[in-house]
Amino acid sequence: METIKVPLKERSYEIRIAHSFESFGDVVRSALPAGRTLLVSDENVHPLYGDTVRSLLEQAGFHVTPAVIPAGEESKTLAQADALYTAAITAGLDRGSAVIALGGGVVGDLAGFVAATYMRGVPYIQLPTTLLSQVDSSVGGKVAVNHRLGKNLIGAFYQPRLVWIATDVLRTLPVREFLSGAAEVVKYGAIMSESLFCLLEEKWEAFRSLDNRVLTGVIAACCRLKARVVAEDEREQGLRAILNFGHTIGHALEAATAYRYYLHGEAVLAGMVLAVHLALARGLLGREDGARLLKLFARVGLKTAPPGLAAQEVLAAMQQDKKRVGERLVFILPVAVGQVRTCDYLTAEDILPVIRRYLTGTAEDLLTCE
Ligand SMILES: NC(=O)c1ccc[n+]([C@@H]2O[C@H](COP(=O)([O-])OP(=O)(O)OC[C@H]3O[C@@H](n4cnc5c(N)ncnc54)[C@H](O)[C@@H]3O)[C@@H](O)[C@H]2O)c1
Ligand SMILES: [Zn+2]
Repeated sequence: METIKVPLKERSYEIRIAHSFESFGDVVRSALPAGRTLLVSDENVHPLYGDTVRSLLEQAGFHVTPAVIPAGEESKTLAQADALYTAAITAGLDRGSAVIALGGGVVGDLAGFVAATYMRGVPYIQLPTTLLSQVDSSVGGKVAVNHRLGKNLIGAFYQPRLVWIATDVLRTLPVREFLSGAAEVVKYGAIMSESLFCLLEEKWEAFRSLDNRVLTGVIAACCRLKARVVAEDEREQGLRAILNFGHTIGHALEAATAYRYYLHGEAVLAGMVLAVHLALARGLLGREDGARLLKLFARVGLKTAPPGLAAQEVLAAMQQDKKRVGERLVFILPVAVGQVRTCDYLTAEDILPVIRRYLTGTAEDLLTCE
């Protein structure tokens, strides 16, 4: 088992990475006083792992009320949060009770939001079950629901008491979801760790076929990197922005296709590929490093652009992004393998040609340095 400490003074907590949920009960007891818990999961994950987690919690002396939400992004709403508040009140949860999130980023963000707001905040614990949630959304304490006018607009910074990652659960995760999470994994290597990048280059096949040792090592490396960034910049004032590599264009692609065409990581991967081309064109990145970045991105797989999408629509979506600073578009661009810099001087004229190249070109063209 790997243990990673997230040092945030009185909000510090541990991330445990194990193969299974075994011994989760003992660890949870040391993190929380026994009491009532709301075990939030979705309709895909609950039938697979809900009973196991419930009985481990009960053996550890907790009273468990399961709450199962429909799977998918549509559940990240205030209405769904309201249904969970009702379940919590009906089950008699008080300020000493806890919310346990068992699922992907949707369950984690929603249950975390409920934990942050129910009775002005009760402890919560995350059991992330997608690769994306294991390396990204479960670390950092961002919790939120969507508003009809935009994603993640209603939320808080609220840290969990414990994150337990069981790598075995990835065996039931659809491959497309795994690869979407893999895009975020590759991102960590590209932005801040050449050694993680090398590990992925060397062990890609083992990682892809869910070799437990490699998975544990890679997930632990990602969590350590994100924990380091979050510890330095909990409220996203500066350093944390590097985590947005690939996201300025990625979010715009997701928004311009009404969140129906891409999984998040797929859009981020396209964004990272285009960021490499923006950096190459400005001479910020050497061709050798550019080629290495693109080669690993190609192993995750670049999704072709949807037919009929216009570059102007992507640009318009980009200009509406909530992470925009004033009128400027901020890009995180690679300068070497494992290193990025912030770039806020690019104009629409600089960006449109690369977007057009993606919308009309082939994957082969985009994944080489020519
Ligand atoms: N809080 C943050 O910092 C942060 C960071 C990144 C993303 N997010 C949020 O995370 C969400 C996306 O998370 P996600 O990609 O995990 O999606 P998700 O939670 O929708 O899970 C994807 C799908 O996989 C299913 N699933 C989950 N685990 C499974 C398993 N082990 N076996 C079989 N099926 C399983 C789910 O039921 C769902 O259908 C978005 O809402 C995004 O905004 C938050
Ligand atoms: Zn992301």
